[in-house]
Amino acid sequence: MLADEELDLPEIGERDLVAHFTRLAHRQYSVDAGAYPLGSCTMKYNPKASEAVAALESFAAAHPSAPDSMVQGCLEVICLVERAICALTGMKRATLQPPAGAAGELTGLLIMRAYHDAQGEERSKVLIPDSAHGTNPASVAIAGYETVVVPSDLEGLVDLGEFEKLLDDQTAGFMLTNPNTLGLFEKNIKTIAKLVHEAGGLLYYDGANLNAVLGICRPGDMGFDIVHSNLHKTFATPHGGGGPGSGPVAVKDHLVEYLPGPLPTLDPATGRFMQVQPAKSIGRVHANHGNFAIVLRALAYMTSNGPEGLRRVAEMAVLNARYLQARIAGAYQMPYTGDCMHEFVASAGEMRRETGVRALDVGKRLLDKGFHAPTVYFPLIVDEAMMFEPTETESLETIDALADALIEIAAEAQTDPDVVTQSPHTTPVRRPDEGRVSNPKTRRLTADMNAGR
Ligand SMILES: Cc1ncc(COP(=O)(O)O)c(C=O)c1O
Repeated sequence: MLADEELDLPEIGERDLVAHFTRLAHRQYSVDAGAYPLGSCTMKYNPKASEAVAALESFAAAHPSAPDSMVQGCLEVICLVERAICALTGMKRATLQPPAGAAGELTGLLIMRAYHDAQGEERSKVLIPDSAHGTNPASVAIAGYETVVVPSDLEGLVDLGEFEKLLDDQTAGFMLTNPNTLGLFEKNIKTIAKLVHEAGGLLYYDGANLNAVLGICRPGDMGFDIVHSNLHKTFATPHGGGGPGSGPVAVKDHLVEYLPGPLPTLDPATGRFMQVQPAKSIGRVHANHGNFAIVLRALAYMTSNGPEGLRRVAEMAVLNARYLQARIAGAYQMPYTGDCMHEFVASAGEMRRETGVRALDVGKRLLDKGFHAPTVYFPLIVDEAMMFEPTETESLETIDALADALIEIAAEAQTDPDVVTQSPHTTPVRRPDEGRVSNPKTRRLTADMNAGR
């Protein structure tokens, strides 16, 4: 308004503008667009009913600083989700403050530290398996502990012998996900729990893989003391682009007093919801009650499925993963032969040595065939890892089409490897990360990797 001259703004008709943005939107791949078998991420379809619930004005317009008397419904939602999480994990109470899985890990480790401090013990290290997600050692470091890596055995499970050697009176705890990141159930979990507890440590459950065991078995019954769950994975709330997420942390009786506060709680005397500060709380880990809209979506998902439905989620997730694995087993190397749970890890190691086609190339070629890529190069202990998690929400037809596409790519690697290594051919942007290959040093590195050196 203060400018003397007219601004030189582009002029475009509404119709053209809408067409432009609609075209751009259609270039975006998403869980609504098709299968998204990104292992460890549980990229399931997000039901639209949950979105409708999250958009209800009475919730969406509630002010986070409103007095408890004005937001009784919101507090009840938090208490209901807390109760469901505790029932599903076998824990006593939970905080819904942490805004992601990684934030849940840090919260759990701070609870672990507060517990040991209260026993008058200074413990210095936390054990994690070598198949662990990168956030585990990062959280351990931020919590001020030293990370000690426990090797996996030939089956892909925690090597019990090595584990026992590393466990001592300096061990604050052991962080584990079960099923682990190779998609395998740690069958020795009860022995592991016993050993950790005998050494005075606590057992931490990284609940990123809870989708595999929902309603079937509970971390609490396996012996875990602290659990984080990822609402944005297991309970079908949007996940991607960095969030927003929700990583509630649930604990057993002996750790409730350390939970972050305040904890929304039902006062049985008045039937009203209030906020209670646990006696030795580690303090707040997030403003207000965390990402409330994600909690709301999770409640909608949990109640629309019900206990039987949630169990069926896990059963179908496992069935779909086993089916996909069986369909592509002839085309790709399977480094571990144990029955997979909700995800599995294949390897393109042999393929790379024979044809020069790497896991990354298989992922890129999959984009041409209309699917999102799997997770690649994780877990780190598998050469040319490709981690597939089809989730329970994909139909048999879709999983068959995904398997067919993967089998075709394996055949192309043999007959026409360039079509795979130069892919994707159909996406608007091709290999942005590989732009760096123009640097001679990186080019040499890439050539070395391709040659298997
Ligand atoms: C096994 C595992 N642990 C922890 C995390 C961290 O969760 P978030 O991304 O919510 O921080 C992930 C995320 O993918 C994971 O797969």
